[in-house]
Amino acid sequence: TEPLTEPLTEPVTEPVTVDLLDPDLLRDPFAGFSRLRELSPMVQVTYGSAGTPLWLVTRYEDVRKVLGDRRFVNSPANVPGLGLEDVRAEAFRGMGIEDEYAAYLLRTVLDADGDDHLRLRRLVARTFTARRVQELQPRVRNITAGLLDRLPVRDGVVDLVEDFAYPLPITVICELVGIPADDRGRWREWGRALMRQDDPGGIGAAVAGIVHCVEDLIGRRRVEPADDLITALIRVHDEDGSVLSGFELVTLVLAIVLAGHQTTAHLIGNGVLALLDHPDQLALLRSDPSGRMAGAVHELMRWCGPVQATRFRYATEDVEIGGKILRKGSPVMASLVSANFDPRQFEDPHRFDITRQPDGRRESHVGFGHGLHYCLGAALARQEAEVAFTALLARFPEMSLAVPRDRLSRTSVPGTWQLASLPVRLGAQ
Ligand code: HEM
Repeated sequence: TEPLTEPLTEPVTEPVTVDLLDPDLLRDPFAGFSRLRELSPMVQVTYGSAGTPLWLVTRYEDVRKVLGDRRFVNSPANVPGLGLEDVRAEAFRGMGIEDEYAAYLLRTVLDADGDDHLRLRRLVARTFTARRVQELQPRVRNITAGLLDRLPVRDGVVDLVEDFAYPLPITVICELVGIPADDRGRWREWGRALMRQDDPGGIGAAVAGIVHCVEDLIGRRRVEPADDLITALIRVHDEDGSVLSGFELVTLVLAIVLAGHQTTAHLIGNGVLALLDHPDQLALLRSDPSGRMAGAVHELMRWCGPVQATRFRYATEDVEIGGKILRKGSPVMASLVSANFDPRQFEDPHRFDITRQPDGRRESHVGFGHGLHYCLGAALARQEAEVAFTALLARFPEMSLAVPRDRLSRTSVPGTWQLASLPVRLGAQ
């Protein structure tokens, strides 16, 4: 059978095809994906060496549909009757990454469906509820203040990505999970290595390092339990391995630590830059930080959220999307960046406006995803960003960019938006 796209209501002359590794798209995904969104609600994409036709959904309503509709699953194994291979497994194999390593990245909570997904998510959900996150706030403030006290300033300049945006969330998530302070630098390097799709050897080594580290920690916590997430999960596993297997224990810790620090780090880095880019909005925020901060973080998530596309979903039956038929078994990704700039949903989407959603609640952007796999750490990420921006604004009223705007470099990874560094001049305190 033809894989897909038969025009229903919308005439399509040619299927639009895009290479996610296209340098222009990586340089300016905002313009690139906006153009694609207006060309077609669903575009065909290429991803690594995967031979399967892959699809990207571009419009806000359709993105919510793919993420919120139970006819889509995250694991290809859960599409009945087709015996599909995971497209990412195909791509990893093409890159020379061994299946054993790939399994840890391909079988996390994000790849589980139905009862398995609920079972895994429930085990950790309690740690990240709004109330628990609220209780953590004094500690997050404390870590933030400590980092700002010790910023390694050279000639009045500091790299906010390296010396602040990264250390804050990695410290918070490692404390919660129970990763000792000495290991955190290695986690950060592993996290970076996993992002480098051009270095398969580095990915294999990072997974091996992570698995070894978590297994070692599990051994230590069995002897010396602590008040942390890993100890709680070990108890669950030891009481009944069918509630949490040994493999799942490792992937759960891995997913939370990795998802919990890189993303938040880049929201902070991207966010500072966006505020410096818009002095009027920065002044507005400075005029009432406590009243406007939630709204500002909400708009920053829309404007420069670090996750620009979700994982693949698979259609369990033929589904209509934007007037076309997506065939059963087709892998489809949701473009969060194009949805967040969709003029069908956001008035004047290319205007940065921290008053769009003044109290920051009722989320309209899809930067944290949507549906059953909606980001588990959204409340924590929002809080860390709020604390970080509040402290930076209070301490450094004259903060400014220390290099010309066009000299800032991005780490080019499809699906994420992140600054390689952010040198700022702090000014008088
Ligand atoms: C899921 C974004 C911070 C843990 C997701 C998804 C997105 C996302 C878009 C859904 C992906 C999909 O449906 O394919 C972000 C952003 C963050 C952030 C932009 C920071 C600004 C965090 C933090 C944690 C975390 C701090 C720590 C607990 C997770 C987990 C999932 C997830 C475990 C999978 C949930 C599930 O499958 O049920 N995140 N995230 N994230 N996030 Fe986050």
